[in-house]
Amino acid sequence: MKIERNDPCWCGSNKKYKTCHMNMDNKIKAIELQGHIVPTHDMLKSEKDIEGIKESSKINMAVLDAVGEMIKEGVSTGEIDDLVHDMTIKMGGIPAPLNYNGFPKSVCTSINEVVCHGIPDYNRILKDGDIINVDVSTIYKGYFSDSSRMYMIGNVSPEAKKLVEVTKECVELGLTMVKPWNFLGDMADVINQHAKDNGYSVVVEIGGHGVGLEFHEEPFVSYITKPGTEMLMVPGMVFTIEPMVNMGSSRIYTDEDDGWTVYTDDGLPSAQWEVTVAVTETGYEVLTW
Ligand code: MF3
Ligand code: CO
Repeated sequence: MKIERNDPCWCGSNKKYKTCHMNMDNKIKAIELQGHIVPTHDMLKSEKDIEGIKESSKINMAVLDAVGEMIKEGVSTGEIDDLVHDMTIKMGGIPAPLNYNGFPKSVCTSINEVVCHGIPDYNRILKDGDIINVDVSTIYKGYFSDSSRMYMIGNVSPEAKKLVEVTKECVELGLTMVKPWNFLGDMADVINQHAKDNGYSVVVEIGGHGVGLEFHEEPFVSYITKPGTEMLMVPGMVFTIEPMVNMGSSRIYTDEDDGWTVYTDDGLPSAQWEVTVAVTETGYEVLTW
């Protein structure tokens, strides 16, 4: 049904359409007619939704801070899982990974050549020189937040340290491209170029996602696509930037036994940082880091 100028806006603001989203919708329509992919209304979060995601993000970041306090040589990834689970529940949240498509734990812990989706285990004890990604996803009052950080255990090789740092720079560079009327491919390309400039490669098959009302929403967010391609960025979109950067080849495979753990094909290390970001009227706001 076509919405008229004087109807209430579809976004629930109680404003008239003409004084709310009408101009934006027209601009989006024009860009779509040029052949671009554009977001649908259900991908645009209201202010209330963004407030909810921010509340969820507070728990998410507090948990990652707490991981940073306890993580060290001799700690098992099973103990990290216990901390994430218990602290999330204590703060009124739910760990989103637990039972998600059958995932057995509350957090993903991915060490060295594990690219992502590593399953915590009391028998996997962190040792000197490990690099580990801890990926925390939180549900609070129905709102989802998702972010991950790298932690370096003891004396990490200069090569691995550089991988961790460059991967973080990739996310920071990607963020600078998040603004209305840019495309996801603009963000992806700066990430891919920075990784390549350092001799690294970006994983192709696994990427980011819309997030907020569900764990994984549209759009899929690639970090290898070209400027001016992929979905148009519009105020109200909330998605993750979470490139997986491999020291060697971008090729990966999934563990056949557990069905989750993703490894680099060449056994070289991989790093990942993840933020949840909202597109605002003027640029971006990082909700979790
Ligand atoms: N947290 C991951 C992401 O960033 C998804 C993990 S799915 C799980 O999208 F089931 F392994 F938790
Ligand atoms: Co994610």
